[in-house]
Amino acid sequence: MHFKTKTYESGTPGFGKVRKISFAIFVLGVVLCACSKNPTDTEKMQPPSGLDAFEQNQRLGRGMNLGNALEAPNEGDWGIVLQEHYFALIQEAGFNSVRIPIRWSTHTTATFPYSIDTRFLKRVDWAIEQALDRNLAVMINIHHYEEIMQDPAGHKERFLAIWSELATHYQNYSGDLFFEILNEPNDKLTPDLWNQYLSEAIALIRETNPGRTLVVGTANWGGYAGLTSLKLPEEDRNIVVTFHYYNPFPFTHQGAEWVDNSDQWLGTPWHGTDAEKQAVRNDFAQAVNWANVNNRPLNVGEFGAYSKAAMSSRATWTNFVSRTAEENDMSWHYWEFIAGFGAYNSSTDDWNYALLDALIPPN
Ligand code: BGC
Repeated sequence: MHFKTKTYESGTPGFGKVRKISFAIFVLGVVLCACSKNPTDTEKMQPPSGLDAFEQNQRLGRGMNLGNALEAPNEGDWGIVLQEHYFALIQEAGFNSVRIPIRWSTHTTATFPYSIDTRFLKRVDWAIEQALDRNLAVMINIHHYEEIMQDPAGHKERFLAIWSELATHYQNYSGDLFFEILNEPNDKLTPDLWNQYLSEAIALIRETNPGRTLVVGTANWGGYAGLTSLKLPEEDRNIVVTFHYYNPFPFTHQGAEWVDNSDQWLGTPWHGTDAEKQAVRNDFAQAVNWANVNNRPLNVGEFGAYSKAAMSSRATWTNFVSRTAEENDMSWHYWEFIAGFGAYNSSTDDWNYALLDALIPPN
């Protein structure tokens, strides 16, 4: 309901009209609640079976990354602690799902049996349930496992152990919970190694979660270019393939503190000229081509432009990328809710409407 704050702002003309609109919203709300009721506890605890990955991808639909919270070394280190009302805001704005990036490597013992800290796991349970309670599908992953990128062999056993624990722990959660195997494999975790590790992780997860929809990304930092080297277990059709989209990088990452020399890009606009749009379409066409040949559904698991770019350009780019994804039957997750790319502004405690409207165009 992102028009709510706009409509009720002081000074809005026509109070009588506002009351009629309120009644219409109330009726609409009752109708919507009746049709899309929130799942009961029993429904949430029905392990999935017989799911179709393409339908599951539609279930993900339009989504939001709850970034900079649980994938910081410790939640709060990067200024964001997840709040219950974040889930309500996201659901009420019209999103269908959330992606929750999670760093497990700082909450898991360094040696066998690589146990996950139970307090942290409970915190993740809480976040997942906040989403499921509001009928938001939820994707969890292993995020920022930097150690495995530097020393794949040294961390493989631990990586698989983390999945074994998570898969057992969440095996009875509904099919609205998705597992994404690993965020942005890169560096020494080469495309060949990644293909090997992902197939072992999938085999292991399937022991306890035969029916869950899994999400798999590409090597070399998760871009669409990595699709051509991706090898999935052919017979396993319950997989959504994901890629991240930040092109043109000098635009989306201008002034990003974690990207060397990105200050030189400050002031780079994205006006949505024909040439700029065509470049995005061409990138997406490569992904679509791969998906058609391989008969796999696609998700854009991250896309966004950093707050140092001009808001008008960010909105124009965000709108174009979201619509291009949708035209190609891709689900998507905007990067991210309330930090540096924030669609929501923590200081005004309100949406950045230019971004929200770009993501979910008002009717
Ligand atoms: C990283 C974030 C980063 C974002 C954009 C994500 O995959 O986890 O730390 O802000 O990409 O660069």
